[in-house]
Amino acid sequence: MGEGNWYDADIERVVVTEEQIHNKIQDLAKQIAADYVRMESVLLVGVLKGAFMFMADFARALGRLAGAVEVEFMAVSSYGQRATSSGVVRILKDLDRDIANKHVIVVEDIVDSGLTLSWLLKYLESRSAASVEVVALLRKPDAIKVNVPVKYIGFDISNEFVVGYGLDFAERYREMPYIGVLRPSVYSRV
Ligand code: PRP
Repeated sequence: MGEGNWYDADIERVVVTEEQIHNKIQDLAKQIAADYVRMESVLLVGVLKGAFMFMADFARALGRLAGAVEVEFMAVSSYGQRATSSGVVRILKDLDRDIANKHVIVVEDIVDSGLTLSWLLKYLESRSAASVEVVALLRKPDAIKVNVPVKYIGFDISNEFVVGYGLDFAERYREMPYIGVLRPSVYSRV
């Protein structure tokens, strides 16, 4: 990890390093390339904004190993406060194209309560995808409220608030190349 970046001073503890992320993405891409070797029409669906960085790295890793893939993004938002989320999701940006008969892989940065993903999987299935699986870089097993089938998981982490590699606190820290826990003093600044 480089020193001197503005964000390093705000991080209490690194949870997943840049190198660990890189290596895990290569592993996930290998596994997924093998599982989808006979499938045409593979479509990666990234969930904005958090997944933008994982999508960029994962799509490149998969692209070196697999046949052609397409890339789409959706943006969704839970109604009200996240902490009291009802699992009702609002679509801020929908798919641009028809996904019927495509093998969809949802690309998520993190599965927290599972509510977003649970809704999204039903939505994608209702749009007649040939299959729908999920690759999530992070999962918090202790935060799960609804069980969702996540076939490909990068890291299981403890139930604490993490930032970096796409994940934000008040729209900051998304550009960090690693994942970490913020110092408590950061919260008292806002
Ligand atoms: C985060 C994350 C997932 C979702 C997971 O997005 O990117 O999409 O929450 O939480 P859940 O499992 O409890 O539903 P967020 O709503 O913070 O939006 P963002 O990606 O734009 O930051």
